Amino acid sequence: MTRFSNRITQLFNIDIPIIQAGMIWASGWRLASAVSNAGGLGIIGAGSMYPEVLKEHIQKCKTATNRSFGVNLPLLYPDIDKHIQIIIEEEVKIVFTSAGNPKTWTSLLKEKGITVVHVVSSSKFAKKAEDAGCDAVVAEGFEAGGHNGKEETTTLVLIPAVVNAVKIPVIAAGGIATGRQMLAAMVLGAEGVQMGSRFVACEEASSHINFKNVVINSTEGDTQLALKQLTPVRLLKNDFFRQVQQAEQRGATVEELSTILGRARAKKGMFEGDLQEGELEIGQVSALLDEILPADQIVKNVWKDFMDGLSNPVKKL
Ligand SMILES: Cc1cc2nc3c(=O)[nH]c(=O)nc-3n(C[C@H](O)[C@H](O)[C@H](O)COP(=O)(O)O)c2cc1C
Repeated sequence: MTRFSNRITQLFNIDIPIIQAGMIWASGWRLASAVSNAGGLGIIGAGSMYPEVLKEHIQKCKTATNRSFGVNLPLLYPDIDKHIQIIIEEEVKIVFTSAGNPKTWTSLLKEKGITVVHVVSSSKFAKKAEDAGCDAVVAEGFEAGGHNGKEETTTLVLIPAVVNAVKIPVIAAGGIATGRQMLAAMVLGAEGVQMGSRFVACEEASSHINFKNVVINSTEGDTQLALKQLTPVRLLKNDFFRQVQQAEQRGATVEELSTILGRARAKKGMFEGDLQEGELEIGQVSALLDEILPADQIVKNVWKDFMDGLSNPVKKL
């Protein structure tokens, strides 16, 4: 694979600016190391791991690749300080934080020599991340799978807004699964892309095969942002989604919504494969996915499509 040089590839010491998103129940050491070995940046999703499980995944990832990899830390995680301690002890070099205030942990991580990237859904939050000392931001648009901003700003609008607001490099996320989508994001000023949904439908992802199959069979309109009052999350429409929707329509309180969500909903859906009662987090771009592929094939396909797009960007009459 030809190396590509820009601020993002230099920041992470990777060949090409393709980042596999850290995702609960989907991105363990197998997926992260496979993406890193393919020349991109693989990320372990710590949000669904007990501290000792995270430690094991980091150690296995180090054995499986000599290349850079990162850990994604949702800051609302209850045992966050234990995760931070493990990251420091295991000498993880790159951390992506999300769902919380970047001020809380960035300076400690930076003191330990760790590269810190924060996920944002608006240019206001991007400025806060820059002020907190982050090295880059992920601008994640409304299309994205998983937790999302309340603002509903789409990726096409968010990228230029964030690029204009900060000096640090911007990684685009939300609705990106092909090289031409990546090219569009980079034309708008992003210097890399983070893809989540594409890597759920991947052989090395730890997501349940039932979930992977429903993802590749989904079509436009099959996902919707739910739980906006609690923590907005884009879900595939199933029985659980409809329970939430009905509760929201009758004006359920945050407490009622929390009770419906209960515990372990996401594990039930994405890890155990219960397609009706489980929570199935996925992005709009699932409508474009029709194959479960190995990680290195995904990286190669996206990069080839990006390079083809670069030499022939627009359709001619
Ligand atoms: C199954 C799933 C789980 C996710 N879990 C996390 C997470 O734990 N932390 C996080 O910062 N983002 C999480 N996300 C969001 C991704 O990191 C990424 O930004 C998003 O998927 C990009 O949009 P896309 O799905 O359109 O590619 C998750 C996304 C999915 C699809």
